[in-house]
Amino acid sequence: MATTQFDLGNETTGVVVDETSFALHGNNSSYRFHVDASSGDLISDHFGGPATENVALSNIAAHGWVEMPCRIWREFPDQGRGDFRIPAVRIRQSAGHTVSELRYTSHQVIPGKPSLPGLPATFGSEEDVSTLVVRMEDERARVVVELSYSIFPAHDAVVRSAKVTNNGNGEITIENLASFSVDLPSQELEMINLRGDWSREAFAERRKIHYGTQGFGSAVGYSSHLHNPFLAIVTPTTTESQGEAWGFSLVYTGSFAANVEKGSQGFTRAVLGFHPNHLSWPLAPGESLVTPECVAVYSTTGLGGMSRRFHRLFRDHLVRREWADRPRPALLNSWEGLSFDVNEDNIYALATDAADLGVKLFVLDDGWFGVKHPRLAETAALGIGRRIRLAQCGGQRHGEKLKFGLWFEPEMVNVRSSLYEAHPEWVLHAADYPRTEGRNQLVLNLSLPEVQDFLIASISKILGASAISYVKWDNNRGMHEMAHPSVAHRYILGAYRVFDVLTKRFPHVLWEGCASGGGRFDPGILHYFDQVWTSDNTDALERVRIQFNTSLVYPASVMGAHISAVPNWSTGRSTSIEFRAHVAMMGGSFGLELTPAEMPAEEKVKVPQLIALSERVNPVVIGGDLWRLSNPEESNWPAALFISRAGHQAVLFCFQLRAHLYHAFPFVKLQGLDPRARYRVTCNGEEAVYSGATLMNVGLQYIFYGDYQSRVVFLDRL
Ligand code: DGJ
Repeated sequence: MATTQFDLGNETTGVVVDETSFALHGNNSSYRFHVDASSGDLISDHFGGPATENVALSNIAAHGWVEMPCRIWREFPDQGRGDFRIPAVRIRQSAGHTVSELRYTSHQVIPGKPSLPGLPATFGSEEDVSTLVVRMEDERARVVVELSYSIFPAHDAVVRSAKVTNNGNGEITIENLASFSVDLPSQELEMINLRGDWSREAFAERRKIHYGTQGFGSAVGYSSHLHNPFLAIVTPTTTESQGEAWGFSLVYTGSFAANVEKGSQGFTRAVLGFHPNHLSWPLAPGESLVTPECVAVYSTTGLGGMSRRFHRLFRDHLVRREWADRPRPALLNSWEGLSFDVNEDNIYALATDAADLGVKLFVLDDGWFGVKHPRLAETAALGIGRRIRLAQCGGQRHGEKLKFGLWFEPEMVNVRSSLYEAHPEWVLHAADYPRTEGRNQLVLNLSLPEVQDFLIASISKILGASAISYVKWDNNRGMHEMAHPSVAHRYILGAYRVFDVLTKRFPHVLWEGCASGGGRFDPGILHYFDQVWTSDNTDALERVRIQFNTSLVYPASVMGAHISAVPNWSTGRSTSIEFRAHVAMMGGSFGLELTPAEMPAEEKVKVPQLIALSERVNPVVIGGDLWRLSNPEESNWPAALFISRAGHQAVLFCFQLRAHLYHAFPFVKLQGLDPRARYRVTCNGEEAVYSGATLMNVGLQYIFYGDYQSRVVFLDRL
């Protein structure tokens, strides 16, 4: 028995191999599969709570019209030999057919976790993670598949990717390839995913898993607002705080597919990976294709437990160390205030006003390069130095030097630009089909090394020449025409190279990803960029839902959230400055996105205090665990609690969305505290001391008057 052990209590965690039976043990979970001796197939045994052995499979349905391959739990289902369910791999062999026969050949246990060359990936030391690589081969085609499983025991997280290598003599085409595939036992299950559109990100869809196939994905070239690369599977009784939840999160920024199939025998198969419309990957002899990795977590403490596992794993083992735990500077972004109307006078005025209010970082958004100039023409760097000096000069009048941030949209080009004139072959296109524009833009083809090098050089020039502390990297349209479906993934690999080089070259810059708001809010982006602009929807009421639901998988630490002007530009709704600020403080990167000069005096006067409050809250939001106490989709009184990792401090956000006449105010029962500890509870200058037991079993009650009300409550462990 080969074992990689972790000394975590008395449990044996990590990878445990018993001949050809494999177990990946987390602190509170086990993932098990084995090799079927006669077929060489990998059989899924268990993904759930801790289990020390497999149970004999005598309960497999022995009868049915479908043959055996369709009646069993398969770990990496290939295609063409009687399993009619969705496959994990579909290979068009050089002979033209799509039949594969992958059989186990060997395995290897590796301490730690090897990186995925060219792809974003979770990382960790040998104490944090261990890896099992299982090799399978189709002897006829001489195609090898290596499945890499890494277990992060402290997070109950199994991370999987697949590598296909063509050792045959002819070219093959990978038509479909999953990062993760698993067959879950026969039971009633439901699935949850996040869907949306521009400014309407993160609606949580919960539905029963029916017999047949159901799924979602993105074929726009990016992870997209339309569907996030995240899937949760739960039992019908799973709630926020109780019950089983399996979470799957694909560490990828490109098109993806997530499919769930309940087969005729009642088992549920989940498959996440590339989108087949954007793959068709040719593999010449000797070549390999590696999938992005997919993180799967298991929780028995409901969706909240699932989210906290993702949050900790992403903060500790995915996001760059530079910023992962660092409080973010309160910022002012020019977009909603100035839009494209940017000139030296209003930049100076805005930066001065921002610094007056206590803002630490001034961000110049779109419009800074002048309307006639292309997104990244050689002219782009001209003038920016002066603008930065102006902004900082405005800020410097108030002591501490105002940091400066700049918006870029480097992956796009306008047709009327010197760059496009010089290099029309640099944009995505398909033969002589029209190059359809989106937001008046074409997409630079980042699969081309010369385009990658151009972007790296252009942006390095600007960042190297100027005192820029923050970059907002925007991307505002989908991919249309492509020379070949595989360009989509090659593009993403190119983008990752650009992100990797630039973020390593400028490690102290705070990098924010953006794609028309949350159109690329995915774990792949988070490996390079420290945070993501959550949505262009800055209406605070809408933001409560968007931020709560985004937190199903992503930690609050990586969410950008700003106070904007009222009435809100998109919804026309007016909410108080306190409500807008408190909602924005629930995001790790708090800021303003308005013109202070246009604020009503009675609002403006409150901003310095609100910024100071955000600075007090921020370390707990950045580094703490999130407990969603009541959800805005279910309650008029949503509440969220952040508890610092050490448990000494906590911040409670309570909201009333609408005034309900003569309705009693609910008690907010806290969670995650030490029942025996005593906590000082402070809100609006009032102080009380309660035990954790009282706070969790009785709760706190706050009185609200009117629509869109909020409270921020501090808890200090005594
Ligand atoms: C879309 C982004 O989401 C906005 O925040 C802003 O940067 C605009 N693009 C600028 O064009």
